[in-house]
Amino acid sequence: MAVTINTLRERKAKGEAFSALTAYDATFAQLVSEAGVDVILIGDSLGMVLQGHDSTLPVTLEQISYHVRSVAKGNRGALIMADMPFMSYGTVTAALDNAAELMRAGAQMVKLEGTDWMAETIRALSDRGVPVCAHLGLTPQFVNKFGGYKVQGRGEEQADEMVRHAQLLEEAGADVLLLECVPSALAKRITEAVKAPVIGIGAGADTDGQVLVMHDMLGVTTGKTARFVKNFLAESDSVQAAFAAYAKAVRERSFPAQEHTFKA
Ligand code: KIV
Repeated sequence: MAVTINTLRERKAKGEAFSALTAYDATFAQLVSEAGVDVILIGDSLGMVLQGHDSTLPVTLEQISYHVRSVAKGNRGALIMADMPFMSYGTVTAALDNAAELMRAGAQMVKLEGTDWMAETIRALSDRGVPVCAHLGLTPQFVNKFGGYKVQGRGEEQADEMVRHAQLLEEAGADVLLLECVPSALAKRITEAVKAPVIGIGAGADTDGQVLVMHDMLGVTTGKTARFVKNFLAESDSVQAAFAAYAKAVRERSFPAQEHTFKA
């Protein structure tokens, strides 16, 4: 049966973890969805893993839209979430027009990076029928403001602020939250503080779901591997088996392990 936002809500209510993976084309979308992964993210990480940039900033709406169309062709029942690229939601009007383009291409949810300033935009999207995932913590589109890819939410003040932002964005209409590179205790606190399903990456084992970039979990990388990544292909005899092993490990909460997490 096709995964919907209701499936993710039910999983949270039952305490059953769900899995998400990036995919950017029809073939991998089919393999990922057939392996039992619940959500496919067409991430702007494609700017780094497909296009060779050193950040996600150069990715355009047209490029995300192209990859969403490809993924939608291959997908076999996973929920399709598409990233809104850098500055494509700088104003409410831009967000509405650009989200509409991604939904027409086949997305079932859009993901936006930011904090409290996104509340008005999220409300406008949600009121018009666009499901939204709000991405908090290490938001890669802000790499130049952060001065690098750094763990976010360390220290009491920063942690309290992130909890407040998560609650505010949920109230504004965010259906799902995504936490990237935050201490696991903070991710647990946020997951318990909101009703919306929370997906983590580098956020410990207590979020409702997990996401990884496909290239990372297959060990197809050229640079340094992040602490939160596990190479599932290393223990599998095919790419398909690696996707299935990842979905199973997330379901059973054996991934992420302690060594993949950050402390406050
Ligand atoms: O662009 C992406 O792939 C993402 C994940 C890292 C969550 O946003």
